[in-house]
Amino acid sequence: MSETAAPQNGPKGSGVVRIASVAALGGLLFGYDSAVINGAVSAIEKEFNVASGPLGFAVASALIGAALGAFFGGRIADRIGRLKVMKIAALLFFLSAVGCAIAMNLPFFIIFRFVGGLGVGIASVIAPAYIAEISPPAIRGRLGSLQQLAIVTGIFVSLLVDFLLAEAAGGSSEILWLGWEAWRWMFLMMVVPAVLYGVLSFTIPESPRFLVAQGRPEAAQRILARVLGVGAEQTVERIQHSLNREKKPSMRDLKSPKGKLYPIVWVGIGLAIFQQLVGINVIFYYSNVLWEAVGFDESSSFIITVLTSVTNIATTLIAILAVDKAGRKPLLLIGSIGMTIALAIMAFIFGTAPVVEGQPVLEGAAGPIALISANVFVIAFGMSWGPVMWIMLGEMFPNAFRGAALAVAGFAQWAANWLVTVSFPALKDISLGLAYGLYALFAALSFAFVWKFVHETKGLALEDMEDGFVPAGH
Ligand code: GLC
Repeated sequence: MSETAAPQNGPKGSGVVRIASVAALGGLLFGYDSAVINGAVSAIEKEFNVASGPLGFAVASALIGAALGAFFGGRIADRIGRLKVMKIAALLFFLSAVGCAIAMNLPFFIIFRFVGGLGVGIASVIAPAYIAEISPPAIRGRLGSLQQLAIVTGIFVSLLVDFLLAEAAGGSSEILWLGWEAWRWMFLMMVVPAVLYGVLSFTIPESPRFLVAQGRPEAAQRILARVLGVGAEQTVERIQHSLNREKKPSMRDLKSPKGKLYPIVWVGIGLAIFQQLVGINVIFYYSNVLWEAVGFDESSSFIITVLTSVTNIATTLIAILAVDKAGRKPLLLIGSIGMTIALAIMAFIFGTAPVVEGQPVLEGAAGPIALISANVFVIAFGMSWGPVMWIMLGEMFPNAFRGAALAVAGFAQWAANWLVTVSFPALKDISLGLAYGLYALFAALSFAFVWKFVHETKGLALEDMEDGFVPAGH
């Protein structure tokens, strides 16, 4: 770290925590929107008279929307600002909630899932960037973890809402209120956090890094004085300096004069892809497959899924406590080890289990061991790769091309999520052991990747990132 690094200021009051929490609300919508469809799937199949094939497309269309949202969200935020982009995301969530709730046919429904996906993608990249740009370096990791806390809380809330509404109606296809079936209300409920996100985004300040890039250093300084306490003027100077090195942000900035992507961009893409290739969302999207193989019936499977999602929330708290002390890299490495071991055990258990009518059956101790391993996997992920990947995407890139680099890495993250999600049904038909074996392999590779390529960003000022990553002379 250079001598001129920004002072390690403490936070000034709880202002910055509130500001980061509002931005993190986007994560709550991200989690809710991704998981809400689980409780509605069978009702939608019935309503639109379709088999699971086209419905798989509805799930995939949200992920494709998310990939595009992540790609364009970061770029647009470099032009019109972080706050306006948050408002656009809130509007997209609102439209998707209403559109899915009133959908009269499958194409209509798929279009509005896509619109929600755009919101998810935008929120997924704007929260890390904004939070990183507004935070004092000493607690930036902690504040960045709030996004993951919000994502997993959103997943949990959607599970609960789906369950409670279906219970109240006596089934997700049954009429609940105002002549609407329960599954429609599941989507409509998203209006509440969407409005909250949109309204609260009027109460937080624009990112100081964006303001400096727009030639408004005084405004940036006022905001920095509020969140940092001291050293605002110095920080503005350093931001100016870091931006002066480059021209207007553009995708071309990601390439060195030799026309190759800067190594740091590859590191970001790698982190984004590995976070998904370890198969975390298979546990969330297809959890019933797993628990029913262990021998639980449908309602017990649901309870275990809820417990797993509570575990996920709790382990995010470990990351919040540790990420600014231990650092990002140790957490990632520990997480990779834990995930590799847990996934390898699951691969072994499912790979060696007898198959009856196409379903693996776990006998004796195998069931409980699989159950424990799956939760160890979720714990290992939740305290490391879950939050840390998002924190790092927000903070690791230089000011001059943060938006463009986030766009590319965010896109890669959603593309990898899509790949894992659509390939799992086919993989599991071959063998669940194979599926978990592959995820275990990627978890092991993720360790090597972090070990070799990822640099620690704990405590560094954003203005120092370029020194650490972009090769000298560029
Ligand atoms: C991370 C992942 C997301 C996943 C979540 C679950 O945020 O990016 O895909 O659903 O963690 O913990």
